Formats: sequence, structure tokens, C-alpha cells
Amino acid sequence: MLTPLKLLILEDNALDAELEAAQLRAAGYDCDWRRVQTREEFEACLDRPDFELILADYNLPSFDGLSALGLLKERGLEIPFILISGTLGEERAIESVKAGATDYVMKERLERLAPVVTRALNDRVERVKRRAAQQALREANRRLQGLSARLLQVEETERRRIARELHDSVGQLLTAVKLRLAGLNPSSPDYASRRSECVTAIDEALEQVRRMSRDLRPSQLDDLGLMAALRSHLDRQAGSAGFKPNFTHDRVPPCLAPEIETTCFRIAQEALTNIARHAQASEVWVTLAGTEAELRLEVRDNGRGFDVTAARLGAAAGRSMGLLSMEERATLAGGRLVLDSASGHGTRLSLALPFMRTSTGQA
Ligand SMILES: Nc1ncnc2c1ncn2[C@@H]1O[C@H](COP(=O)(O)OP(=O)(O)OP(=O)(O)O)[C@@H](O)[C@H]1O
Ligand SMILES: [Mg+2]
Repeated sequence: MLTPLKLLILEDNALDAELEAAQLRAAGYDCDWRRVQTREEFEACLDRPDFELILADYNLPSFDGLSALGLLKERGLEIPFILISGTLGEERAIESVKAGATDYVMKERLERLAPVVTRALNDRVERVKRRAAQQALREANRRLQGLSARLLQVEETERRRIARELHDSVGQLLTAVKLRLAGLNPSSPDYASRRSECVTAIDEALEQVRRMSRDLRPSQLDDLGLMAALRSHLDRQAGSAGFKPNFTHDRVPPCLAPEIETTCFRIAQEALTNIARHAQASEVWVTLAGTEAELRLEVRDNGRGFDVTAARLGAAAGRSMGLLSMEERATLAGGRLVLDSASGHGTRLSLALPFMRTSTGQA
């Protein structure tokens, strides 16, 4: 099986170019090559670089290999460049590699050409892979920074909300009760009804405190486990948003690691909040299932659906937090999260969380 290779050969001697191509063919390359001799021809090729490697003679009648290398670098092209020379001394060879040549080969030792070409091509593949990995890392860092900033902002907003709720609801209720109790006279005729008003106000304050505490950390998650917490959260959301809830489960292990439970619950919580806020759904299905290695969650609604790519771009631009935080939570737990949605066709969120984390984050 021959490996296709598109070559540009800068060489004044047609026979030398033939020999170079023949060496590569013998080593398993199916060479599609083109020979040029002048600066103008070489530059025209650089304008439309449809080749994977350049072999350049060091000395040409009207041009030279090092200037050709300079032109390549000027244009920022990262095509492997191998100098070929009959006269290149050791010093010049080192100088050319310092100038950015990938390697060099002496004409009298042309048998070295194929291994040098193979190494140059492999190095290029590695470089491209490394750059893609670095780019991905930079992207991840950028996202993480954005997320941390949003997280601090959300934390601050949440504190403000809790402070306001404590002050405006619980605080007001308790103040009212205190005033009523202070003015309570056991001998007055409306004593019984005023006392009962106080008890009602205290019940209301208690309910407010319970709701706030449940929102902060559902106690069912600790006391009864993920399944009960999910079911009760779904029912509560269904009650306030007015959709029909459906909860099913299949082979969910009885004891799950707390991190898995929290991740799964928080993602379901955000998905259900999104449904209540945006979906206008009449029915919602939540399924929790265990496989050999993973816990799977599906949250599906029959609401108005949305353009996931556009929403993600909006989230990345800082317009919202929910989608990003769900994805970030899933990634941190070594899991996968997929969102399927289209306008008018509802939304399906599928989450898979590995029971066991490995060092690479895969189950
Ligand atoms: N189930 C859904 N049905 C319809 N639209 C949805 C659904 N889930 C998300 N969306 C759309 O995706 C957008 C982004 O969701 P995301 O959770 O990131 O932001 P948000 O809910 O608007 O704000 P927050 O940052 O408070 O979560 C929403 O504004 C909404 O338009
Ligand atoms: Mg949201």
C-alpha cells in the first residue's frame, strides 16, 4: 500500500528531482510532484500551497534554498522543508536547520531521504495534534475563568436573594407576631382569634424557612437518597409550573457516591427549572437508570424546544449560566451530557455519570 505524498521540488537539475522522487517511491510513497527552478515559480506555488513537503536544492543558478526557506517562513506556512545539497558543509547544514529547515540530506547520501521525509511528516502530525491539544486547553481555561467569574456573581446574587427573603418574609412575619403578642390581652374578647392569627403567622414563617432550606440543600438527598429527592422535586415543580410529571427508574443502585448524587440532582434541578421557566410544557418525563458502569438520567419535555447551538453561544458570551454549569458539572464528574432540542419538538437532556472515576475521567 503506497502512501500518497504531494511534493514540491525546488531543483534546477531534472535528473536529481527524478532521483529524489524515485527514492521516495521505493520507500512506499506514491509521489505527486512538481519541479520548479526560479523564485517566481516557487512564490507562485506558495500562493497556492497544495503540497505536503518541500525538497529544496541548496544552490540554484538564480535562487537558493535558504532564500526559499525565508519566503516560506515569511508567509507563516508550516510545511516541512528539507534542504538537499551536494556541497552543504556541516556548518551550513546547522545554520539552515537554525533558520527553520526541518532537515537536510546530502545528494551523495540520498538513501537518507525517505527516513528523513517520514520523520518530518510524523513530526508535523505530532505538532498539529499538540497544537490542537494546547488550543483545547486554552479554551477550557478560558471557559473555566468565565465560569468562576459567573459563579462568584451568582453566589453574590444568591446571598442577596436569601438576605432579602429572610428580611422581607421571615423577618416581617416574626415582627408582626411579636407586635401582636405584645398587645395580646387574655381578658379581651378577641383573644382567641388574635392568638390563632399569631399561630398562623408562625406556621407561615416556618414554611418559608423550610422552603429556603430545601432550596439550599434538599434534605431528602441526604436522608432518603437521590431517587426520593428527584421525585419530590419533580412533583413540586410540576405543581407550581402546571405540567404532568412522570418519574420512572430502573436498576438504580441503592448506594451512590454523594458526589454522583449531588451532580445528578443539581443537573436535574437546573433542567427542571429551565422547563418551568422556558418550555411551556404540558408533560415532563424524568428517568433514572443504572447500567454496569454508569448512572443515566433523562429529562424530557414536550414544550416549545430551542436552538441549542444558539443558546450555547449565548451562554458562552455570558448571557446565561444554566447550560454551562450543567455541562461543567457533568465534565467534572467524568460524565457526558447531551442536549437534544428543536423548535416545536420539546427538549431531551441525557446525562451519563460513571460510578467510578478513572485517572482520565472516563469510566
Ligand atoms: N427545556 C427548555 N425548553 C425551552 N428552552 C430552553 C429549555 N432549556 C433551556 N432553554 C433555552 O436555553 C437558554 C439558555 O438556558 P440557561 O439555563 O443557560 O439560561 P437561563 O435559564 O435563561 O438563565 P440561568 O443562567 O439563570 O440558568 C434559555 O434562556 C432558554 O431560551
Ligand atoms: Mg437556566
